[in-house]
Formats: sequence, structure tokens, C-alpha cells
Amino acid sequence: MIYELSNPLTNTLITHLRDKNTQAQQFRHTIAELTKQLTYEALKDFPLIQKNIATWHGNKKFETIKEEDIVVVTVLRAGLPMLDSVMELLPNCVAGFLAMKRDENTHKSVLYYDRLPKCKNKTILLVDPMVATGGSMCDAIELIKSKGVSKIISLNIIGSPEGLKKLSSKHPDVDIYIAQIDEKLDINKYIIPGLGDAGDRSYNTQ
Ligand code: PRP
Ligand code: URA
Repeated sequence: MIYELSNPLTNTLITHLRDKNTQAQQFRHTIAELTKQLTYEALKDFPLIQKNIATWHGNKKFETIKEEDIVVVTVLRAGLPMLDSVMELLPNCVAGFLAMKRDENTHKSVLYYDRLPKCKNKTILLVDPMVATGGSMCDAIELIKSKGVSKIISLNIIGSPEGLKKLSSKHPDVDIYIAQIDEKLDINKYIIPGLGDAGDRSYNTQ
């Protein structure tokens, strides 16, 4: 299933991202804020466990997400602010890293480093702001699935209809939470209207 967040606050934050004058620090901060909104939605029905904690008037049991059962996997570079954001909400979750770069000519993703923790029987939150052709997300999901997983949830900021169609048809079991779905891809496989290159915008490399 694809869940698109559409509300006035989400749309306002995305407009900041699209603005060429938004500098890297605010860009990363805005990505992080949108990621929090996506995470709230994605975990809306997540099961809770009872945890015994020391309160001001003795030990008591309270509800909590079992954070250790959540693995947040980021696709470098542009996914980094999203990883930080999820880990602010769930400080005890586990982090994994996939370094991928789209080849400028073929537009296919190339994996050049992976550091995935144990994924079996965990819930994976896979974070990358952009779903353009969908190639990077599909490759990331295949790699994670090869490690044996129970559930994968994709958190993304902007996607193209083409990329999301590819992603949801190849991996119908993966729920996709996305802030906004844009119009199309251009001939260079960039999202229109999009926001440009999310990695470059985040890290001043354009
Ligand atoms: C961007 C983005 C995705 C990918 C999306 O990363 O963060 O990973 O492109 O494109 P796709 O859906 O067509 O695969 P990029 O390869 O530019 O690397 P970067 O994060 O280092 O800039
Ligand atoms: N990667 C990006 O960062 N932006 C796009 O529009 C496409 C791929």
C-alpha cells in the first residue's frame, strides 16, 4: 500500500524543500521534520509491550514500542537526516547503512558499501527521501530481504508515479509512506517538480 501524507503542514514543509533558496542546514532539518510525520503514520498501529520502569512512586508497568525490534536502514547520502530523525524518536532502535549511487548515464543504482545489522524477525524502516526510477529502493529491499526479514516499511519524502509503481509492483508486501507524489520523471530521470538532487542539496555539493 502507498500512503501519501497530504495535509497543510506537510505541503508547507515540502514547499520549503522545493525552494532553491533553502540552504543545506534548513533543508536537512525540514527532511527530518517530515520524517517524524512519516514515522508517526507508519507506526500508528505498531504493537506495544509492557515495560517495567522505575517511576517517582515505585516500579510500574507502562506501554512502549519495543525499540530494539526496529531497524532503521538508511540509503546514503540523502537518507542520513532521515535516519537521525527516526533515532531521535526511537533512540534504542538499531541502525543499518547502505551506500548507493545512481549511475549518471544508466540511472541504475550501484551499491558500494553495506552495513546491515541482523534483520531477521525485525521491522525495517527503510529511509531515502527520493523515489525517482525506484531502482535504489528496489535494490535496497532485495538486499534486506536476502537477510531474512519479517516486515519492511519504506519512508520517503518525494516520489514519481513511475518509481512508486515499480516499487509497489515488485514489492507489494512493503508499505510505502511518502510525503508527496509528484508528476513525472524528466529525461534524466529526475523528479518533476521535485527538489533537485537531495544529496547535493543536503551537503552543499552541487
Ligand atoms: C538519490 C536518492 C535515491 C536515488 C533515487 O541518491 O537519495 O537514493 O537517488 O533514484 P532512483 O529511484 O532512480 O534509484 P543518489 O544516487 O543521487 O545519491 P546521493 O544520496 O549520494 O546523492
Ligand atoms: N535523486 C534525487 O535526489 N532527485 C531526483 O529527482 C532523482 C534522483
